[in-house]
Parts: sequence; structure tokens; C-alpha cells
Amino acid sequence: MIAKVRKAVIPAAGFGTRFLPISKAVPKEMLPVVDKPVIQYVVEEAVASGITDILLIISRGKRSIEEHFIANPELETDLEAKGRHETLAELRHLQSLARIHYVFQPKMGGLGDAVRCAREHVGDEPFAVLLGDALVSPTDGAKPVLRQLLDVHERHGGSTVALEEVPAEKVSRYGILGGAEVEPGVFKADKFVEKPSVAEAPSRLAVSARYILSPSIFAQLDQTPTGKGGELQLTDAMAALMQREALYGVRYQGRRHDIGNKLDFVKANLWWGLQREDMRDELKRYLAGLLEQ
Ligand code: G1P
Repeated sequence: MIAKVRKAVIPAAGFGTRFLPISKAVPKEMLPVVDKPVIQYVVEEAVASGITDILLIISRGKRSIEEHFIANPELETDLEAKGRHETLAELRHLQSLARIHYVFQPKMGGLGDAVRCAREHVGDEPFAVLLGDALVSPTDGAKPVLRQLLDVHERHGGSTVALEEVPAEKVSRYGILGGAEVEPGVFKADKFVEKPSVAEAPSRLAVSARYILSPSIFAQLDQTPTGKGGELQLTDAMAALMQREALYGVRYQGRRHDIGNKLDFVKANLWWGLQREDMRDELKRYLAGLLEQ
């Protein structure tokens, strides 16, 4: 029997150095994409995929993430008095999304180190990991991307990662998976390498910010030496675990919006703005006007 995944872990402790100066005092997870912070989209994807319990791995200076998800009775009374029922309903929905917990990562030691901080909370069950530096929106009619991974996990067990094909010159930015296609779009891994050179890369299938992990990863992380960049790499621990427990990659149906760097962040705001009925027409006119100049 393959255990149902109920818990998700969202690492959100990093300094966000690629986003300075804004990330000095504002956590990069709290940057807005239109009118919601990035982290809310990630939480919503988890919830829409069936997750009921979320652990946010945070650090010093990230308290505003907590503020975002807890109730603010004074604000609610004020909105009520002003008759702002729609906004009030939105806020209440936000607070009821999932059970959200927090744990501190004492020092920045890489993604593997962040995941290790979730050990006590997760216990002995498979769990999801969602990285906040990418928003993934499903292709029209497809399920949320994490749900696509969970469907594969429910059939095969083991661990599962989201995959996206990247051009050769970009393989050195990602964890790259090599393996055989066992179902359309599903690969059973036999190689998994963190940020390889083009020559070392087993394929062009890059891990894309969403994982389902077996709880065995915790013991494996304990035995994993630091890797690329002097950090404890989740990829290295998963590659070692793969010798005992299967790892699958799923080429997901969806579109990734990088928000970990400034240019892609601006693009993501335009893309999401264009999805909004209340903004689309005016935004299109504005962009067309700008392009004519
Ligand atoms: C991390 C992982 C990498 C993965 C990437 C995108 O790298 O270590 O394997 O491909 O996220 O999900 P980072 O972007 O944090 O350097």
C-alpha cells in the first residue's frame, strides 16, 4: 500500500541574494505577483493538489510570511464595518487554506539542509516539497502540477520529481535526471546529477521545483557529504537513495514562471496580469502602446 501524501514542505529561509536590494527587508517569498505574494500561489497549488498540512521552513526576517497567513481580527472588523465583504471573504479563505506550521532553519546550508529541518514534523510518511522560486500553472484542463506528481506517486511509490526539458546551455543550472520512459512522460531514473556540465548531463530533463519524497531521505541526508557550492544538495541524497528506492520523473503539463530572478519575475507579473479578466484588456492596450514607442 502506498501511503497518501498529506504534508508539504516549503523551504523559505534563503536570503534571496539574487533579489537584493528588495529582499533585504522583504522576504522574496512575499514579493507580489499581481496582488498575492508568491508564497500564497505555492500554498494554493499544494492545497488544490490535496495537501492539508504545510510546513514552512523560515529564518530570521521572515516573520511577515507568518503575518500573511494568520487572522487579523482588527482588520476583519474594519472590513466588515466598511461593507468590504468580498475582500473579507478572500482573507478568510486565505486563513482557512491549510494547517500551516513553521520551523526555523538555523543556518543556510542548502536545499538538503532545509529539507532536513522538516524531519520531526514529517515523521515517517512520504511528503511533498515545493520550492517557492517557481510558480507552475497547469496547461488548460490539466491538474495542478503537484497533483500530476501525486498521481504518479500513487501508482509507483518511491520518490517523484517534476521535469521540464531545458536547452543544453541551461543544464548546469538544474538537477538533471537520466532514465527510461516507463509511461508517456514518466521516467524511471538511473542517474540524477546536480548542476552538471553539458558533457556530464545524462539528459536535458531538469528538475523543476516540485518533489514527492520518501521519508528515507532524512537518514540519507545524514550520510550525504556537502556537494556543489559547499551545500548539502538534496539531489545528491536522492541520487544515493535511488539505489534502494525508485525515483521517477514526471514531465508535467504546465508552464513554469521563474520568479527567482528579476527579469523572469517581471515577466511572471505580466503573464499573471494578462490572465486576469479585470486587467487583461487594459494591460494589453498599455503594452501595445509601449511597444509602439
Ligand atoms: C534547486 C535544486 C536543483 C533544481 C532547482 C530548480 O537549485 O538544487 O536540482 O533543479 O532548484 O527546481 P537552486 O535553483 O536552488 O540552485
